Amino acid sequence: MNILVIGATGAQGGAVARRLVDSGHTVRGLTRSGAGLPPGVTPVTGDLADASAVRAAFDGVTHACVVLPMVFEPSVVETYIRNIAEAAVAVGVRRLVYNTANRMPSVPTSVAAFETRRFATSVLVESGVETVVVRPPVYLDNLCAPWVAGPLAHEGVLRYPLPADLPVSWLSHADLATATIAALTRSTADLAVAPPTTAAVAAPLSPDGLVGALTPEGLALDLGGAEVVTGSELAAAFSVTLGRPIRYVAQDLDEFEAGLTHALGATTAGEVVSTYRWIAEHGHDLYDLDPAALEKALAISLTPLSAWIAAQPWTELAR
Ligand SMILES: NC(=O)c1ccc[n+]([C@@H]2O[C@H](COP(=O)([O-])OP(=O)(O)OC[C@H]3O[C@@H](n4cnc5c(N)ncnc54)[C@H](OP(=O)(O)O)[C@@H]3O)[C@@H](O)[C@H]2O)c1
Repeated sequence: MNILVIGATGAQGGAVARRLVDSGHTVRGLTRSGAGLPPGVTPVTGDLADASAVRAAFDGVTHACVVLPMVFEPSVVETYIRNIAEAAVAVGVRRLVYNTANRMPSVPTSVAAFETRRFATSVLVESGVETVVVRPPVYLDNLCAPWVAGPLAHEGVLRYPLPADLPVSWLSHADLATATIAALTRSTADLAVAPPTTAAVAAPLSPDGLVGALTPEGLALDLGGAEVVTGSELAAAFSVTLGRPIRYVAQDLDEFEAGLTHALGATTAGEVVSTYRWIAEHGHDLYDLDPAALEKALAISLTPLSAWIAAQPWTELAR
């Protein structure tokens, strides 16, 4: 296997690339800068907007892991994903794992962060390249950001912009990496624990309450962590593991957007926050999961929430 990871210095692509190298695979990473790749990853530089650079990055590649960067302009995303699909077809990629970086609502929305990824899914699946689509919920690692870790350390408050009663199967980047490798290497028959469906590829890949749903050319897997918890259950897990009282507070979305605007700029922050606004209004089931069914489909063990909490350097993260 000669594996290309797109976005290999990113939070998600980096975790996947690192784990692939640790598992003994030959890995190259496509980024614009080529800097900061995990050890053992061969750099390939190029912009996803540049078709010839993307084609060159795929030379000799047999498998690919794709997560798109934080870009939500539909025409730009279309260029990126068509360049990826055309290059994957040209070199005869045997399997591509596409990480949508969020779950997909079962109905179309006006949220670009969802709909551009839904469109990207359809381009890959329609290209004919064997595609396994992995759809994660929110990441546990988001809780390591200073704007979460700070109030956690100093106020005993776990403040996050999701409703307190929302069931969430928080996933770690480490478990994303484990799941991605399984999605890359296991047979589709093993991955498809759910009965085949004939869901139209251009339509939403409906979870149907199942872990996997076969489309004519692809397979979609909703990912998640070992436990599905509400905000207060998550805070309770922190309280028990850290040995001090922690309570959950659903962060005000305007406040969240103001903070994110400083980091990402108004346009990108607005697009990210629009996913949280949609979830607050319509997404009660979006982040749910049957972890046992996922573990069976991928033949993996997900990390217990308490083990993930215990492993993070919370005091350091709060600084
Ligand atoms: N579900 C969640 O909880 C969650 C959390 C965070 C993010 N997300 C989503 O995840 C996606 C971003 O993933 P991430 O956080 O891993 O991204 P990230 O940390 O910003 O990394 C982006 C990666 O892509 C590369 N890249 C950026 N633009 C590129 C281009 N035009 N051509 C080639 N490479 C490019 C970057 O390297 P260079 O800069 O060197 O090119 C980097 O390796 C977004 O869709 C975001 O909304 C979801």
